[in-house]
Amino acid sequence: METKTYKISNDAIHLKEIKEAAAVIREGGLVAFPTETVYGLGADALRPEAARQIYQAKGRPSDNPLIVHISRFEDLERVAREIPKQAVRLADAFWPGPLTMIVHKNTSVPYATTGGLDTVAVRMPSHPVALALIQESGCLIAAPSANLSGRPSPTLAAHVAEDLAGRIPLILDGGEVGIGIESTIVDLTEEIPMILRPGYITKEMLEKVLGKVSVDPGILDPDALEKPKAPGMKYRHYAPKAELTIVEGAQDAVVAQINSLTKALQETGKRVGVIGTDETAAAYCGDLILSIGAREDEDAIARHLYRILREFDEAEMDVIYSESFAALGIGQAVMNRLLKAAGHQVLVV
Ligand code: TXA
Ligand code: MG
Repeated sequence: METKTYKISNDAIHLKEIKEAAAVIREGGLVAFPTETVYGLGADALRPEAARQIYQAKGRPSDNPLIVHISRFEDLERVAREIPKQAVRLADAFWPGPLTMIVHKNTSVPYATTGGLDTVAVRMPSHPVALALIQESGCLIAAPSANLSGRPSPTLAAHVAEDLAGRIPLILDGGEVGIGIESTIVDLTEEIPMILRPGYITKEMLEKVLGKVSVDPGILDPDALEKPKAPGMKYRHYAPKAELTIVEGAQDAVVAQINSLTKALQETGKRVGVIGTDETAAAYCGDLILSIGAREDEDAIARHLYRILREFDEAEMDVIYSESFAALGIGQAVMNRLLKAAGHQVLVV
């Protein structure tokens, strides 16, 4: 299959391209499109055959449910059995935006979309291209991240093409995404709302609106007996080709430790990559050193993480060392993804 790509700037109206993409969705096909978090791979959420195509294109296990994207709050009624009061408050505060809510599903949502669950994940994205596509199609759009299963989520249309060219008919290229890490997921089917995946909307932000919020113990501690409640979080998700270790401690000590480990490995012929920051990148002696951004700019760190991990895969390093980042704000979500990529290997110096 030939994959077409249309460049779409966010401030101009590209009605012709959006209409063509909307028609693909209405006919049951797949379109990759930008959202403010990561690129999504969309299909009509209420048609089981359309949802099944998503799993096939991504090579995704069919028990891993999809997020349904809507463009108006009223559309929640089209998929939810009932609308919890908390959903109204959260939507007021954070929709459109990077927050996904889990509610009980009604009978119009096929099990192919929810991976067999009786609950459904719903999100109203804020990206203008995503909203225009949903509106123009008249459909609700099921969309996981637009990567092959097991690869980092795409933050550029080029990442989508790397993984899915030849497997999907159309990519809408809206440039680099703004946030770079997938949406926060909050489960509203529990008595106390529970965060199933950390993201840009933090626990503190949710608690201001809802009062008490809990965090799924299965996502915090890799040794916890609990299985994560979001089926997707149980997968190693993305494992870099190289062995990744996070080195944590005072800046100078981290640089010194990484450099001494690097030199020892290089002597044995290994190629070593380093994830540093603008402050430290020049001090490293690895074979490929990439700065993730300025240390105090948590937003930039989030936006660059997946692109950098893809670059290391391409460069075929044997080992990667990464600095650790402050788990404040979006930093919590960054560390959640980085720890997963590292298989929780952390060296404290
Ligand atoms: O930012 C995002 O959320 C992006 C963009 C495209 O919107 N989408 C995304 O989708 O990250 P995906 O499929 O890569 O991740 C969806 C996550 C998975 O971990 C899945 O298990 C969980 O949401 N999920 C979906 N429905 C669920 C449900 N009913 N109960 C629990 N977890 C659910
Ligand atoms: Mg994903």
